[in-house]
Amino acid sequence: MKEFNTRLIRWHETSGRKDLPWQKRKTPYRVWISEIMLQQTQVSTAVPYFERFVKEIPDVKSLSEASLDLVLSLWSGLGYYARARNLHKSAKIICLDHGGKIPSTADELMALPGIGRSTAGAILALGFNKKAPILDGNVKRVLARHFKIEGKLETSSKIKELWQISEGLLPDNKIEVYTQAIMDLGATVCIKSNPVCNLCPLNQDCLALKEGLVTALPSKNKPKSKPTKKVVWLLPQGPSGEVLLEKRKPQGIWGGLWSFIEAEKKKELELELTKRFKTDCLNIKKLNKVKHSFSHYNLEAIPYLAKLKSNKKYKNSVWVDYKNVGSLGLPAPIKKTINQITRP
Ligand code: ADE
Repeated sequence: MKEFNTRLIRWHETSGRKDLPWQKRKTPYRVWISEIMLQQTQVSTAVPYFERFVKEIPDVKSLSEASLDLVLSLWSGLGYYARARNLHKSAKIICLDHGGKIPSTADELMALPGIGRSTAGAILALGFNKKAPILDGNVKRVLARHFKIEGKLETSSKIKELWQISEGLLPDNKIEVYTQAIMDLGATVCIKSNPVCNLCPLNQDCLALKEGLVTALPSKNKPKSKPTKKVVWLLPQGPSGEVLLEKRKPQGIWGGLWSFIEAEKKKELELELTKRFKTDCLNIKKLNKVKHSFSHYNLEAIPYLAKLKSNKKYKNSVWVDYKNVGSLGLPAPIKKTINQITRP
């Protein structure tokens, strides 16, 4: 057990990641933001988003005072927008209940929306230098291989076992380096397919390697078949090329984000078009189908561009120049659709 952490810490000196933006000018706030971004996003994607986010919103107080629109616009394109809504909510809670200071115990962190046990552990270890275990997907894979943990990892008894192992491996010193090291090992060496075992600092004790089980572990879950949700979108376009976007209700997958008028069938869209725009519509054009994969379903949307004679104001809606949508919180498929539009 002792070799496990000392080898990893030593490996980090030569091969770990040391110049990620959240590792510079480290504060609990920057660590928190980065860990939330990294929950469902790869490091290379998260980096520019992180830099923009902390430049615009540098601390907890400014996050608690920022509009949700601003937070969502800085998150726009990253997906899993509940993360952004939860960050915003948490900042308000931290200001109200913790005097504006990010709490430094697992229980207090886990009481905040969007923080589970592993994220709490990462914030404690990386942001506060406190001895706390983590167990994200990368770490699960490293442990499953190293200790030959067979069978599905998602059962409650396996999860309990993995947490115990993760906790038992923690060093008394250099917890920050160790935590970053085990994450980095999982992300760069002990990767899902074709792991680079000859470069692994733990290879002499890895049970999976010894027994030829590296590719077999961790056991794969059967991929779930996802349903496909088919929708149609209406994009009203005003006389100068501007398009009408509607703000979604706070709940749901794109809650609080700007989107198009949505319906299940084209017929409903036509009714909506007549109801809202009466005789203002000049013509309708079908755009290319847009596909997007969510964690629980696939989305297929057929957008219809409706050219209008006027651009009347509507509740919860904005007219935006199709070339100038960067400042709004837009989901990636919505941006992709707008990119299909040209000036009338
Ligand atoms: N994934 C989650 N947290 C991370 C971190 N701090 N560095 C790299 N990858 C991560």
